Amino acid sequence: MTASRTLTFHVFRHNPRDSGGEPGVREYQVEETPGMTLFIALTRIREEHDPGLSFDFVCRAGVCGSCAMLINGRPGLACRTLTSELPGTISLFPLPGFELIADLSVNTGKWMRAMSERLQAWVHLGSEVNPNQIEAAMDPDLAEAVYELDRCIECGCCVAACGTALMRPDFVGAVGMNKLARFRLDPRDDRSDAEYYQLIGDDSGIFGCMSLLGCQDVCPKELSLQTQIAFMRRAMARQGL
Ligand code: SF4
Ligand code: F3S
Ligand code: FES
Repeated sequence: MTASRTLTFHVFRHNPRDSGGEPGVREYQVEETPGMTLFIALTRIREEHDPGLSFDFVCRAGVCGSCAMLINGRPGLACRTLTSELPGTISLFPLPGFELIADLSVNTGKWMRAMSERLQAWVHLGSEVNPNQIEAAMDPDLAEAVYELDRCIECGCCVAACGTALMRPDFVGAVGMNKLARFRLDPRDDRSDAEYYQLIGDDSGIFGCMSLLGCQDVCPKELSLQTQIAFMRRAMARQGL
């Protein structure tokens, strides 16, 4: 049996609304316990050392996407990261690319909402639809393909890992392109390919992506983001859009 470790955490602390407060890093020591996740470690830090520490968690099961942060420099979900997978010194920083709320908490919701509005990320039913008509069953394979893209939890890891997204605040990121690919697949959405591609056919979309692949490397849902981006880029080139 391996001896338990004393973990050293270097945690970013800053509240932008705290006038006069400077950003900094605080060190905490925590005894590692079996099966410890970063959620458990951060809760212990808050309970035992620093009740003012801010971080976000809702589901603790990799479903809500709210606990994403930089873990030793790499975007990831704190609730799904075991301390046993990490070295004895662990740095935790907020996700870059998003508005800082405080410490490890960032406003991914504001970013995702702006991106979704820009891409009109909802099913466009068209004017012909009768609201009383029963919806036709979707082909199971197609439903499966839509579901696969719908597994995105909007955690923001792909945005934080993308050089383009960090340089261009209007870039929709892999999350945005994945979203549009999802609606394009959905047979209920009556938009044409030209309409979809018009929404992302510039440097804030498909043509801003430099194929850096960081998005796919860090996506906790292992979505094939690069495949979606490459497919749309090829389709647009084919159609001369
Ligand atoms: Fe997170 Fe992956 Fe969705 Fe990006 S595509 S927001 S990394 S789940
Ligand atoms: Fe960024 Fe992914 Fe493209 S990391 S540049 S969106 S391949
Ligand atoms: Fe919901 Fe981590 S707390 S994904």
